[in-house]
Amino acid sequence: MSSRHVSKGLWNNLMRNNVDLGLASIIYEIGVASKYIVHAMRTGDLGLAGTSNLYGEQQLALDVLANEIIKDRLDHTGQVKCFASEEMDNFLIFERKGPKQFSVVIDPLDGSSLVDVNLSVGTIVGIYKSDSVINIGRNLSGAVYVVYGPRTTLVYSTGNGVFEFTLNSLGEFVLTAENIQLKSSHKIYSIGGLRSQCYDNHIRFLNYLESNSYKLRYSGGFVADINQLLLKGGGIFTYPATKKDTNGKLRLLFELNPMAYLIENAGGFASNGEMPILDIQPESIDQREPVYIGSKEEVLIAEKFLKGESI
Ligand code: AHG
Ligand code: MN
Ligand code: MN
Repeated sequence: MSSRHVSKGLWNNLMRNNVDLGLASIIYEIGVASKYIVHAMRTGDLGLAGTSNLYGEQQLALDVLANEIIKDRLDHTGQVKCFASEEMDNFLIFERKGPKQFSVVIDPLDGSSLVDVNLSVGTIVGIYKSDSVINIGRNLSGAVYVVYGPRTTLVYSTGNGVFEFTLNSLGEFVLTAENIQLKSSHKIYSIGGLRSQCYDNHIRFLNYLESNSYKLRYSGGFVADINQLLLKGGGIFTYPATKKDTNGKLRLLFELNPMAYLIENAGGFASNGEMPILDIQPESIDQREPVYIGSKEEVLIAEKFLKGESI
């Protein structure tokens, strides 16, 4: 590896940032797993696995395979005690010997229904220095996401800045952005959910965005949409409570907490419309929450609209 790459490599960045060795090896191993997931997407079966997940949703073969790849790599580190995934009915306690000071929650393949139309998908990982996966997001020790798009990129934070790495042709993750920060306000927005099922105050918020020339950016992949918002400097993503799904669609443990941690470390904010996502005490492993996440100003404006206040 040339000296330029060594100084910009993922492991060197983790060491330069004094990341706990156990935590660093988990983050590094997510990078290793992502290369196998890229290969699986390019060569694997894009069809249904014939099984369903924790939420009763039909699983793609790739969902199950991505989960197995990450599970095995994390077990291999000897740093993980408890492992939970949106693709598994319950959490798993790893038997392998090792320090096992951490517990990990994952969405192994986010936006997986987009793979067959060749849109960007991702992996989401939350890491706790704990022997349980049921924690408030504020207690995260680190979070990672990987975007499988035109570039394969890995974004992590352990509380001292948000860093992006790009997988190069040599199979190395090389630093491409550091200390990423959101502007307090930025005019792009991503809105999930069917308008016909949304509550009036949420619609009033959407009308506010649209009458203030916000540009709509929504791919159907949470990781890709948040990555765009993070790297374009801000904006807001929402998947709200609806009359059909009063808790919204996205999963608190596997999707919202890790992303809220990363966005807050980039100077942004994430709310369920009433309180910070990171302060919600999970009642169950499969809990869903409405979400407003991105630039702080926009999220606070959303909270005002949802309370029926005018701004
Ligand atoms: P997953 O593929 O892990 O189930 O996640 C899909 C999620 C999220 O990525 C995205 O923001 C949302 O589903 C899109 O939902 P709609 O298709 O209802 O817009
Ligand atoms: Mn997902
Ligand atoms: Mn998923």
